[in-house]
Amino acid sequence: MATVEYLNYEVVEDNGWDMDDEDIFEKASEAGLDEEDYGELEVFEGEYILEAAEREGFDWPFSCRAGACANCAGIIYDGEVEMDMQQILSDEEIDDKNVRLTCIATPEQEHVQIVYNAKHLDYLQNRVI
Ligand code: FES
Repeated sequence: MATVEYLNYEVVEDNGWDMDDEDIFEKASEAGLDEEDYGELEVFEGEYILEAAEREGFDWPFSCRAGACANCAGIIYDGEVEMDMQQILSDEEIDDKNVRLTCIATPEQEHVQIVYNAKHLDYLQNRVI
């Protein structure tokens, strides 16, 4: 089992926070945000991050659920997150920008930080359905 600390990309955007800032999760934890926008959720063995969010009652974006669009994209802020086979993200997006498709992604560490709802990022627009 792993814990995902999550933050809604819209909050980052609305507050004008920079994704490269090292303290956006700290800022988020002090901002009095709704559970929907910031918090922690457990991901069980064999569960994908999107599934875990849905089990907790959250309404994260998705479309294909199979690694073929960018609707469910999230940015890994801290920690290791593995993905199943996918054909939509470039190596640069995965390795340098830390983008992951939450519908096929699983945490590799006990605690990871993810900015979900990253489909609003400009460079993913052409793959959002
Ligand atoms: S919902 Fe399409 S890749 Fe995850």
